[in-house]
Amino acid sequence: MLHTLARVPDDPILGISAAFRRDPAPLKVDLGVGVYKDEAGETPVVRAVRAAEQQVLAVQRSKTYLSPVGNPGFNAGVLDLVLGADHAGRKGQAVAVQGPGGSGALRLGAELIRLASPGAVVHVSDPTWANHMPLIGGAGLKVEEYPYYDPARHAVRTDALLAHLDGLVAGSIVLLHGSCHNPTGQDLGEADWRAIGETLQRRGLIPFVDLAYQGFGGSLDEDAAPVRALARLVPEMLVAVSCSKNFGLYRERTGALLVVAADSTQAQIAAGQLGRIARTLYSMPPDHGAAIVDRVLADATLRSDWESEVAAMNARMRALRALLARELEARGTGDFGWITQQRGMFSRLDLTSDQVVRLREQHHVYVAPDGRVNVAGISPANVGHVADSIAAVLRG
Ligand code: LMR
Repeated sequence: MLHTLARVPDDPILGISAAFRRDPAPLKVDLGVGVYKDEAGETPVVRAVRAAEQQVLAVQRSKTYLSPVGNPGFNAGVLDLVLGADHAGRKGQAVAVQGPGGSGALRLGAELIRLASPGAVVHVSDPTWANHMPLIGGAGLKVEEYPYYDPARHAVRTDALLAHLDGLVAGSIVLLHGSCHNPTGQDLGEADWRAIGETLQRRGLIPFVDLAYQGFGGSLDEDAAPVRALARLVPEMLVAVSCSKNFGLYRERTGALLVVAADSTQAQIAAGQLGRIARTLYSMPPDHGAAIVDRVLADATLRSDWESEVAAMNARMRALRALLARELEARGTGDFGWITQQRGMFSRLDLTSDQVVRLREQHHVYVAPDGRVNVAGISPANVGHVADSIAAVLRG
């Protein structure tokens, strides 16, 4: 049987980290996978997470099963965190189901869509996160692209995007990045969100928001604002939430799928179906990260410490954007001010695949195959080498 299997190529993002670890060069920089890093290049355990983890371990008396829909306190906390205390006016119509990370939540959403509307097409931005298409297509759904990023202007192609949405059949799913667009860092502006919301509503399209970076673009509330506005506007929507980045819980696989339904009965039925989907895929999600998030969100002291650490990570990434743009411009390779306008962890440099390979092989600077850089991997200590290397490959 197994001889029929083809060898799998390296994952476009995780493969970069593996190649970086194998590189023996003393001066090497990993700007590949999207993990936050501090000045020392470490991905630290968030302070409030460490404290909450100790509390969880101190009081936990059992590790017996919870349920396929996960930890109820976590689900309630995430619902409030994303939709606000009033659930964007949809109390009772909005439910959260814990999933194994943001990716697991996306897959839960895709499975739910296939069950409810097997022929539905999911439209993703061009470009989008390298795992969106495999993950959603893997659930058996058709995936197509809508125009999003104009690399020449480093801007969103708003008119083309809206024209595309206007041409979709009712019931189509539109996957939107809630904040910190991956891979470009180019977010929708307020007017874009308003126009998209109006089009989704008018055309009967269903938003599926991937909210993996809440708090890394603007404040936690600012990054949730587009989701809340959409929830007030459209009858149905899905939101895949990740706690990997803003809680730093990457390997604990902590996330949730939020479903906003037309009424509370449909919301409960959807939650029941999601529980069944989870049960047949992995039975139930891991609890450790969810128990930690539940505690952080419920405890005022931990919560305020967490909020200030998220704000500090955000501020540091903004400063690194400015530093990188300055250092690149100082090498006379063009205008890089656009990097400072983009948000979150990523920007995509205009590099050919050959330049990406030369960056890695000649300069030991690792970026994603499409030229995406994780700005959190920049530091005052390595920015000189990074800028020299990028300038060198751009000069040819
Ligand atoms: C990324 O885009 O680098 C992150 O979301 C990590 C991942 O799983 O790809």
